[in-house]
Amino acid sequence: MMKTKWDHFYKKTYQQRLDLIAKEVGLSADQLNKLGNDSTVSRNLIENFLTDYPLPEGVVTNLKVNGQEHLVPMVTEEPSVIAAASNGSKLLASGTGIKAEVLSHLIGGQIVIKDFPLAKLTQFVDQHRPELFAVANGSHPHILQYGGGAQKVGVRKLDEHFTSVDLAVDPGEAMGANTINTMLEAVAAWLQQKLAVTVTMAILTNFEAERIVQVNGTVPFSALETQSMSGETVAKRIADASRIAEIDHYRAATHNKGIMNGIDAAVIAFGNDWRAVESAAHSYAAKDGHYRGLSQWSVSATGLAGHLTIPMPIGYVGGATKVLPLAKINQQIAQVTNVREEMKVIAAVGLAQNLAALKALVTDGIQKGHMNLQLNSLAMANGATREELPVVVDRLKKMKQPDSTDVKQILRQLRR
Ligand code: MEV
Repeated sequence: MMKTKWDHFYKKTYQQRLDLIAKEVGLSADQLNKLGNDSTVSRNLIENFLTDYPLPEGVVTNLKVNGQEHLVPMVTEEPSVIAAASNGSKLLASGTGIKAEVLSHLIGGQIVIKDFPLAKLTQFVDQHRPELFAVANGSHPHILQYGGGAQKVGVRKLDEHFTSVDLAVDPGEAMGANTINTMLEAVAAWLQQKLAVTVTMAILTNFEAERIVQVNGTVPFSALETQSMSGETVAKRIADASRIAEIDHYRAATHNKGIMNGIDAAVIAFGNDWRAVESAAHSYAAKDGHYRGLSQWSVSATGLAGHLTIPMPIGYVGGATKVLPLAKINQQIAQVTNVREEMKVIAAVGLAQNLAALKALVTDGIQKGHMNLQLNSLAMANGATREELPVVVDRLKKMKQPDSTDVKQILRQLRR
């Protein structure tokens, strides 16, 4: 491979790395000082480590799941998300609270095989199931200790050339990505040895159709009432919003983004792989070939009923949960003691987040509620100090579409 000046960058000391970057892009001493922040944990977690990138962490209040209250830490840069999740949680707590259930808890993976007779492969897998499971479990013996292990195997034709051997594993309390990848590679090698198959790849799937959590909640009409709309009208309008996400993928993408605003933020706080959760959510949303909203809202006799079924590929132990110091503290703040509880709490946040977004959309519109926090961000991004913030935001509120120039002008006036 071609040589570049960045070869062996990873072997440099932390300070050498920073100095090289600073020289390359012309960072000032002040910028370098802001960037530099060595951490043994992070240096050992990723490659070419430069710094810990700080994101705000807040906490969702009033979330009640299966009768228990949870404070849920959320890491997000987006204003209004935590306020909205708390608001949605409060609405749901005013009804029956959220009922949550883990429907299945298996991680799946595939060994893709090229140009091998389907019938022969299917017959072999059917006849050697216990042996195949033993090869899988034997490659990762810890899994049995943690109460997990290989559970299912099947053969699926992809096209005239490719066949997938699908393995499903109970990952115990872990997310299971490393576990299943190790198992798949072991089973792939075993199949090569037994049948001389050509393996194209062996890898987990992020289509997590067997790691599913379901949450339900009802909000009484009285809790939905606004100054200008009855609670029943708001409920009917939210049900309409839900229907639109069923029939239109333009809206479904935004509807689901709202759900993921809450879910990702909690997944990050718990030190988990939010890209896996995102990928699982969106592929599940398109499982019938049409991309749809992940939640459904309908009007019942007693109020607005909400329902969310979503894959939740997270772990309570292992991976970054073990090394990121805040992940464990956040589990304690949320009072979750195992993976299933954590899955339920995160999905419940998704439902609450979605409810708050839909209620805002079908009543006041989204901008009104967002405005205060957005103005805060605008003011801070343009240099307003904590002391100056209230006055600046107050003045910005009176303007039509304030921007950075307005903030700078207000600050000049204030500082004169
Ligand atoms: C903004 O981050 C999320 C929303 O657009 C979600 C939605 O429209 O349902 C408000």
